[in-house]
Amino acid sequence: MNEMIKAAQEKFGKLLEEQLRRVEKMNENKDFIKYDALDAIIVGVVGGDGIGPAITNEAHRILEFLLEGEKVAFKVIDGCTIENRAACNKAIPDDVLAELKKCHVILKGPTTTPRAGDPWPNIESANVAMRKELDLFANVRPVKVPSEGIDWTFYRENTEGSYAVGSKGIHVTDELAVDFCVTTTEGSERIARAAFDYAKKAGKTKVTCVTKANVVKTTDGKFLDICKRVSEDYPGIELDDWYIDIMTAKLVDPKRRTQFQVMVLPNLYGDILTDEAAEFQGGVGTAGSANIGKRYAMFEAIHGSAPRMVAEGRDKYADPCSIIRAAVMLLEHIGHADKAKKLEKALDICMYEEKKLVITGRDTGATGAEFADYVMETIKKL
Ligand code: IPM
Ligand code: MG
Repeated sequence: MNEMIKAAQEKFGKLLEEQLRRVEKMNENKDFIKYDALDAIIVGVVGGDGIGPAITNEAHRILEFLLEGEKVAFKVIDGCTIENRAACNKAIPDDVLAELKKCHVILKGPTTTPRAGDPWPNIESANVAMRKELDLFANVRPVKVPSEGIDWTFYRENTEGSYAVGSKGIHVTDELAVDFCVTTTEGSERIARAAFDYAKKAGKTKVTCVTKANVVKTTDGKFLDICKRVSEDYPGIELDDWYIDIMTAKLVDPKRRTQFQVMVLPNLYGDILTDEAAEFQGGVGTAGSANIGKRYAMFEAIHGSAPRMVAEGRDKYADPCSIIRAAVMLLEHIGHADKAKKLEKALDICMYEEKKLVITGRDTGATGAEFADYVMETIKKL
């Protein structure tokens, strides 16, 4: 028994050392990259798995069309496929990571996350690894349903919480498994500031912090305390404090949900609540997601890789809307707000207003390429 505890203590000690090193690194670099000071912004394009390459290619074409003549260079990065990740037994193979680090921003298709029982080794999710490796601490997920009065922006903490040590939880004995939840001062402060800065810039009046601080007292309690402290620097923006369980319920309450504006929340609650939220808008296939750090930023679809569609030869009919929404966020982030607005407008027209082409995921509907052409034609008419 004592030996098992000792072995677990040793592993735990290593995890703590790793986390303290991360804290040191976070504290070292607090400045954001300035895109307008660059000769060219390098945009990495990572297709990923399943329907990923097909839909990412369509978003890539639209970005090239919109950014023609701008100081932007595209770089297609292969090798982030599940086959290659499995062969290297790494969440992100070293050479792929080195390529990613040469970029400034990344457009990424879905990557398959293996789980126990799959034919793949149980490696860590490439999404999660990329967020950690590139320190992409703010996961920004907007959800809008204008007809229902829904206009939400989620600021999900993206590098710590229950995701911090990922696959390194400890099987202390055959009977006892322990995972860890990590909250740091800087990690909470930077996400809280990101949420409040956005609220200020977008003219919002309220930020809602979502935790379970009544039960998960230490880590969630710290997250909430820091959000409260940060809110003092933003007079005129109210901080609202909700628990995740009741928040999940209130999102389906039509009277209550219209009052939420910006949400800031730890990693796991953010993961869950943003899927629920996206459902009101038409499902995870319609939502985009930005992963913002100080040096790098990555923009992705929030749905999975749909291997069944590929197996049935239907990848060309896959809906590229989610990754095109991610492209809108990418344009906005690198300083092309006007182009972002145009693309968003065109997408709204094609998806909700005019609907000349409809994607069904099968040959009963348009292909992703036809839809992307439709979006570009619509942009030309704006
Ligand atoms: C998401 C996804 C990922 C997450 C998975 C694929 C690891 O659900 O981006 O929300 O849990 O963050
Ligand atoms: Mg998720």
